[in-house]
Amino acid sequence: MTSEANNILWQSLSVTKSARAAQKGQAAKCIWFTGLSGAGKTTIANLLDKKLHSRGMHTYILDGDNVRHGLNRDLGFTDIDRIENIRRVAEVAKLMVDAGLIVLVSFISPFRVERLMARNLFEVGEFVEVYVATPLEECEKRDVKGLYAKARRGDLKNFTGLDSPYEEPQAAEIVLHTQAESSDVCVDRVLQVLA
Ligand code: ADX
Repeated sequence: MTSEANNILWQSLSVTKSARAAQKGQAAKCIWFTGLSGAGKTTIANLLDKKLHSRGMHTYILDGDNVRHGLNRDLGFTDIDRIENIRRVAEVAKLMVDAGLIVLVSFISPFRVERLMARNLFEVGEFVEVYVATPLEECEKRDVKGLYAKARRGDLKNFTGLDSPYEEPQAAEIVLHTQAESSDVCVDRVLQVLA
């Protein structure tokens, strides 16, 4: 705990997480997508969000590229900045779960320890880790944003999978293989686990 935090006491508030979730007719969850850049995390999270929303569920998406335009605009791609990026988004996701929402988090989140840190913020069963296990070669072949080419040219440093590591999950609740399964099939597999 920092010295600043020593003089701050936790305030108990009256409306609970379960009351907030019950009012929305759902169980609050954090569905955490991890995988390389270009693996398909955002595509699948977006499709899942559309399906949940159309079923009347109350959801929100936290996407790395978008959150880095605002809350995390001061962070880059060094290990230290990525750790802080994940710490902040995990805390935001926790607040959203506390508000009774189903929050879909789509970040590379390359380090196992930070993903575990995120998981440990939640109650058992609330956190669902989804590994979008598209291999590097396939992500690089797709290169939708042209970033792999840029990194290979040496114009982009610390690129995940090239000169910055990605630590594969060892016990994700769900592993999606986007080469073998369509986005719809991937989404249905996540929905089955949530049901
Ligand atoms: S994380 O590693 O800190 O979790 P995050 O998901 O927020 O990453 O951001 C990843 C996105 O930033 C990628 O999809 C890509 O569009 C962009 N990006 C820019 N530079 C890099 C880089 N060096 N490594 C990976 N992604 C990068």
